[in-house]
Amino acid sequence: MPASPDLSRLVWPRLTDRLLLRPLALDDVDAVHAYRCLPEVVVHLSHDVLTHDQVRERIAQRIERGRLGAAEPLLGLAVEERRTGRVVGDVMLRLEPCHSIGRAPAQEWEGTIGYALHPDAQGRGLAAEAAAELLVIGFRDLGLRRITADAYADNIASNRVLRRIGMRHEATIRAKSLGKDGTWLDDNTWALLREEWPV
Ligand SMILES: CC(C)(COP(=O)(O)OP(=O)(O)OC[C@H]1O[C@@H](n2cnc3c(N)ncnc32)[C@H](O)[C@@H]1OP(=O)(O)O)[C@@H](O)C(=O)NCCC(=O)NCCS
Repeated sequence: MPASPDLSRLVWPRLTDRLLLRPLALDDVDAVHAYRCLPEVVVHLSHDVLTHDQVRERIAQRIERGRLGAAEPLLGLAVEERRTGRVVGDVMLRLEPCHSIGRAPAQEWEGTIGYALHPDAQGRGLAAEAAAELLVIGFRDLGLRRITADAYADNIASNRVLRRIGMRHEATIRAKSLGKDGTWLDDNTWALLREEWPV
């Protein structure tokens, strides 16, 4: 397997117009629990509503996976609104070696992004602002070859975020997952190659 991109080289915090991004810390448990405990926030997420302890465990795992040499590297970031200093959401960039069907490994890595915001911070384009910065981190700073994202088709806001940041709708997998309401959900895959990234 090729050596993973060195997450410890990244410089924090990262500033965008309205946001400050930095690695999640255990001090963020209360703020993250405030939205990851809400049914309306987790309706399209792979986990159910989380308890305080589950959020602590999740953040602890993200801290571990951010260390150099982690087996399954992942960058888990808190999203602070600069105006208030409040943590209004979190985003992630998960790294994996690119697939190779040849004898030699591909020597390149790819990433997957994800995000969740507190309902009272939604509707202002903050997720797109944070996700666009994940593309900068992934392509410019970590040199990833490809970045993808998955959004269930009925998660309108998330699909719009991905289109707005310039990702390309690559596939829709029909009835891929059983949703929390008992219906089968279509899954949209969005992607961007390094050479397609316009910045
Ligand atoms: C997905 C999420 C991060 C979007 O963040 P956001 O900052 O609130 O996004 P916005 O409010 O800017 O909405 C994005 C777009 O969707 C539109 N939109 C939002 N809700 C909508 C709805 N119910 N119906 C139609 N359009 C909607 C917005 O008008 C906006 O459109 P635009 O890009 O044309 O301006 C946020 O809704 C969230 O945290 N959801 C819960 C967690 C989640 O589902 N994460 C993603 C998993 S794939």
